[in-house]
Amino acid sequence: MWPPEIEDDRRMCFFWKKKYPVACTPGGSVFSRYIEHTTPLITGSTEFIDHSMPDLDDLVCVGWPGMIGPRWRTSTPAWPRPRLGGWRRMMIQEVAMRVVRVPDVADLERAWRDVSGVLEPTPVVSSELGLLKLETFQPTGSFKVRGAIAALTPGEPTLTPGEPAVTASAGNHGLAMAYAASRLGAELTVVVSTRASAAKVAKLRSYPVRLVEHGDDYDQAEAHALSLPGRFVSPYNDPHVIAGQGTIGCELDTQVDGPLTVVAPIGGGGLGAGLTLWARQRGDVRVVGVEAAVSRAVASAVDAGKIVEVEVGETIADGLAGNLEPGCVTPEVLRHAELTSVTEAEIRAAMRWLFAEHGLVVEGAGACAVAAVLAGKVDISGRLVMVLSGRNITMPVYRDALA
Ligand SMILES: Cc1ncc(COP(=O)(O)O)c(C=O)c1O
Repeated sequence: MWPPEIEDDRRMCFFWKKKYPVACTPGGSVFSRYIEHTTPLITGSTEFIDHSMPDLDDLVCVGWPGMIGPRWRTSTPAWPRPRLGGWRRMMIQEVAMRVVRVPDVADLERAWRDVSGVLEPTPVVSSELGLLKLETFQPTGSFKVRGAIAALTPGEPTLTPGEPAVTASAGNHGLAMAYAASRLGAELTVVVSTRASAAKVAKLRSYPVRLVEHGDDYDQAEAHALSLPGRFVSPYNDPHVIAGQGTIGCELDTQVDGPLTVVAPIGGGGLGAGLTLWARQRGDVRVVGVEAAVSRAVASAVDAGKIVEVEVGETIADGLAGNLEPGCVTPEVLRHAELTSVTEAEIRAAMRWLFAEHGLVVEGAGACAVAAVLAGKVDISGRLVMVLSGRNITMPVYRDALA
C-alpha cells in the first residue's frame, strides 16, 4: 500500500526514484519502518547528487503534504501532483542530505556484544557528589571508542567485510576510529583539515589509517570525506555510533543498581542519545544531558522541533562545540530527555574539583556532568552517575583551567 499511512501528525513527503520510494520527515530523517524500501537512497549526499541528477525524470513526488525546509514554504505544490521544474530540483537536494536511521534496541544489543568483546569495562568510583564513570580510562582517552567499535565491527548492518570506512575528525572521534580500525582490521580513511592541530595529526599518523588533509576547516574536510568511496561514519549522527555510546549504560547495568540519574555531556548528542536508548530499556533511569552554554545545538533543535543553526562561542569544552548536521537524528531521540547547560566558569570549576579531590585529569567536555551537579543544575533521584567522557587536553589549556 503506497503511500503508506502516516502515523502521527508530522508532515512527510514521499518520492519515488525508479522503483524505490523515499519517505522523509521535515528534519530529513526517514521513518525506520520504511528503511527497507529506501536503502538505495540513504547512502550519502554526494553519491546521490552525482548519480541521480541525470535521472531527474525517474523521480516522482507522490505526496507533498508539507514543506521540508523554510526556503520552500512559498512554493507548496498541490497534492498529489508536483509542479515540474525548479522546486523539484530543490527537493532532490533536500533528500540528498544524508538520511540516517534512528537506532533501536537491536542496534544497542549488537553494539553491546561488539564493544564488550573488545573493551574492558571502565571503573565506577565514588565521590562526595555521587558516582563517577571513568571513560577517561578508555584507550585513546574518551568514550568515543565505543561508537567507533560498534560502527566498524564487520557484519550486517554495520560494515560489510572489506567495505572501507571514512570519517572526518582529528579529535576524539577520529582517534577512536583509528584505534578501532586498527583493532578490527577495517580499512579507514580519516580526512582532516589542513589546519588541524599538528599534535592531533601526529597521533592519527601513529595508526595504520589513510590520512587525507583537505580544506581549511572541519566542514570542508567533512564534505570531502562524504565524497570519498566507503561508509561515512559521523561522530554522532549514526545509528551504530549512537548505540555504541549507549553501551556505557549496558556496563552500568552490571555495576550499579537503580534507580539512577545519569548525567552526561552533550555535543552532537550521540552519547546522550545512546544513553537514552539504553535508559528506555532499563526503565528506572533518568538521563540528564549537559551542553556548554555557548553551544546549544541540541536543546535548540529540541525546542524548535527541527534542526536550527545556533551561534557557537568559544569554549574550553571544545568537544561539545558546533552545529548539527542537517537531518541529524539525535534531537529526535533526545526529545524527552532532560537538558541543561553549564558556563565556562562552571566547567573550569569542575575540572579543578576533579583534580583536587580525585587526582583526575579531565578535559572540558568531560567535566560538564560534574559541572552541572556542582552548580546545582541537576535534580537527582536515586543514585547519581556522572559520566567523565574524556581526558584529552593540551598542557597549556589544562594549566590555564587549573590556575
Ligand atoms: C570528551 C567528549 N565528551 C563529550 C562529547 C560529546 O559527545 P556527542 O557529540 O556524542 O554528544 C565529545 C564529543 O566530541 C567529547 O569529545
